Amino acid sequence: MRSEPTVTILDDPEAMADAAARLVVDAAAEAITVRGRFTLALAGGRTPAATYAKLAAPPYRDQVDWAHVWAFFGDERAVPPDHPESNYRMAHEALLSRVPIPRTQVWRIRGEAEDAEAAAAEYAKALAEAFGTRRGELPRLDLVLLGLGVDGHTASLFPGSPVLREVFRTVAAVHAGAAAIPQRLTLTLPVLNAAARVAFLVAGAEKAKVLKTLLVERALLPAALVSPEHGQLVWLVDRAAAALLTAAERR
Ligand code: 6PG
Repeated sequence: MRSEPTVTILDDPEAMADAAARLVVDAAAEAITVRGRFTLALAGGRTPAATYAKLAAPPYRDQVDWAHVWAFFGDERAVPPDHPESNYRMAHEALLSRVPIPRTQVWRIRGEAEDAEAAAAEYAKALAEAFGTRRGELPRLDLVLLGLGVDGHTASLFPGSPVLREVFRTVAAVHAGAAAIPQRLTLTLPVLNAAARVAFLVAGAEKAKVLKTLLVERALLPAALVSPEHGQLVWLVDRAAAALLTAAERR
């Protein structure tokens, strides 16, 4: 059963990062208590870095049972893991190298692979093994963190991308094409919508227009297609990004 999305507006990027870190800590405690582990898909881009840095430092660092955390990625660029554009590198530097999460529980997407389709299939197989899912079944992540692009993309689900129509595969290669779509690898909408909880982390005045387009005008941008079927959808937004929202959206 779909629950109504919640939109929480925080004073500034630092407060938003703090709220996001708190959400991760709470989701981890609940999942580990109930299921013995916490499965998390990390977002890429710049915004989440502040949240990851908070999770890597006291007090939040010491409130997560890292030995029972399994970290996945929502998407990856077509670059090696040490490249400045790598989502893995950003998460590794800000968080994964600073907390005692077992290396065997960090599942990197091989963005650097020559054969992107093979890398997508490889990650899909890794997800199936990690979640014990069979062909046609979807992994249910405890929490998926997502960012929001100014064009309404999220993960590597871009406007006009054929990957938006993917209903079976869990991971897809995003081929650079006419619509200025970059070469990427991404979790697909079925996986995002199978999650127990999805949290968008949005900060900065440059996101105000797309947030209005999404939440007020309800445009069918890729981020609007993220709607967990049996889970929670949470927007953590700073005041600058929320500037064009009316009272109705600030639920
Ligand atoms: C990526 C992300 C992408 C990101 C948005 C927002 O690989 O870049 O998956 O979806 O979340 O582009 O990026 P910023 O947080 O840098 O604005």
